[in-house]
Amino acid sequence: MSVTAPAAGSVALITGGSGGFGRALAGLLRERDVTVVLADLDRESNRQAASDLGAYFVALDVTDRAANAAAVAQVEAEHGRLDAAFLNAGIAGRSRDALDVDEFLRVVDVDLFGVVYGTEAALPALRRAGGGSIVVTASLAGLAPMATDPGYSVAKSGAVAFVRVMAPRLVGEQITISAICPGFADTAIIDPLRAEFDAAGFPVLTAGEVAEAMAAAWMGAEPGAAYVVQPGVGAVPYAFKGVPAARTATGETVAVPDALRPPSMR
Ligand SMILES: NC(=O)c1ccc[n+]([C@@H]2O[C@H](COP(=O)([O-])OP(=O)(O)OC[C@H]3O[C@@H](n4cnc5c(N)ncnc54)[C@H](O)[C@@H]3O)[C@@H](O)[C@H]2O)c1
Repeated sequence: MSVTAPAAGSVALITGGSGGFGRALAGLLRERDVTVVLADLDRESNRQAASDLGAYFVALDVTDRAANAAAVAQVEAEHGRLDAAFLNAGIAGRSRDALDVDEFLRVVDVDLFGVVYGTEAALPALRRAGGGSIVVTASLAGLAPMATDPGYSVAKSGAVAFVRVMAPRLVGEQITISAICPGFADTAIIDPLRAEFDAAGFPVLTAGEVAEAMAAAWMGAEPGAAYVVQPGVGAVPYAFKGVPAARTATGETVAVPDALRPPSMR
């Protein structure tokens, strides 16, 4: 990624902002004089996390579509603009059942629909700012499904697909959407597995390493890219393989009709 610094006076919103990645990112952005708003569940500890970092706080459950719009409206009303939306809130499943549909739906609601609603809410504000970025925290599980967690794997794969399908629809508006796909990282979400990582000597990322990739994606991501972040590897764009093209009866490959491409790709 070729990265430039955020312009003075930029405003960033981070959902799930009081968690491990959110706090690390907020710290980085505050060092660069960005106005940061953490959006997270309405808990005193989450408000405190924001205040400790010199960031603002807005209470938000990302599964509430209307509340996403209200949070962005609050950011614009209080800070004048929105330049970057980091759609980062997420939960993992814990069930050991082969398929626990209630849990599956809960995880998809937060990790996938939270991203869709967050995008819907952020777009008008980013347009009013003359363009900007949406950075979605997906996961390596969105590229290589994690057998222990069906809901998480489907939600994160969906988030990657959402980023890829939205990117060409937005480039004409100077809005870049991209995904970050970290491997296991040292935050609260891996607490139930931490002892097993330690016992196996398995390296996990620091939240700071992931936050660096998120910040870089704001200013330098390729639209629609999914950046893998792994210990000892850094952030690298995932190379999607594509699918075989259709062939005519005489064996020539054919492109899909123009009507199936967004205007920016015709
Ligand atoms: N830590 C990892 O190993 C890892 C790896 C890949 C991807 N991720 C993803 O990174 C993102 C951030 O996770 P983290 O590692 O910082 O974990 P975390 O548990 O520290 O942070 C997650 C945050 O999301 C918030 N949240 C949960 N449900 C919410 C909701 N409905 N509305 C608003 N906020 C909600 C939580 O309160 C918490 O502050 C998640 O999307 C997670 O799936 C984490």
